[in-house]
Amino acid sequence: MNTIKRTRTHANPLANLQEIHFEGFGNTRPIFVDVGAFKGEFMAQLADKFPDHNFICFEIRTPIAEHLREKFKDRPNFRVFDGDAGRNFRNILEPCLKEGAKIEEIFVNFPDPWFKDRHKKRRFITTEFCHTLATWLPAETPIVFQTDQQFLFEETLEYLKETPYQSIKRFEDSVHGIPTDWEKVKMAKGEPIWRMTFTRD
Ligand SMILES: C[S@@+](CC[C@H](N)C(=O)[O-])C[C@H]1O[C@@H](n2cnc3c(N)ncnc32)[C@H](O)[C@@H]1O
Repeated sequence: MNTIKRTRTHANPLANLQEIHFEGFGNTRPIFVDVGAFKGEFMAQLADKFPDHNFICFEIRTPIAEHLREKFKDRPNFRVFDGDAGRNFRNILEPCLKEGAKIEEIFVNFPDPWFKDRHKKRRFITTEFCHTLATWLPAETPIVFQTDQQFLFEETLEYLKETPYQSIKRFEDSVHGIPTDWEKVKMAKGEPIWRMTFTRD
């Protein structure tokens, strides 16, 4: 499939109850994880820079996930999972950790902002999610968060204050020199981008 059907509405992650499982890659290569991989160009270019790593793409919208599977079908170090990344994060990543792989970085690039107050629980990074993460994800695993929504960045900083994720580093430029699809659109319009990496202490 060469095109992705355009959809205007965001997928409500709380309505997607699909449980997905993974037994790991069967090797201990370090892993990059992309939450909401969309067209997958960021991960494709990252793989060109890091050919010895493994790559996990989460994408909630099934047609887009199918497009990603097709795009990466000849790359044995890629896996694409559809469903809500939040619900399935542990199912997918913990087996990789158990087989001895390190999670190099987790990317939450330009997540759906869910502007309305009543939709805040649909955001990917929430205080509750970070508390759960802290129970199983190694402390040193960096979580990279980028957004073009200043309010979302500031509210996410507020959420983090109540979690064990207290080591926060802001940065200015595209991660590994690779702009994401969304980032390219925003940069072309001259719009600002807010970026940080956070870890547990
Ligand atoms: C605004 S786009 C950003 C895409 C890409 N990360 C980029 O920077 O170009 C958000 C993407 O995340 C996906 N998404 C939203 N919520 C998700 C969830 N809970 N789990 C997995 N994917 C999700 C959407 O379908 C969409 O493709």
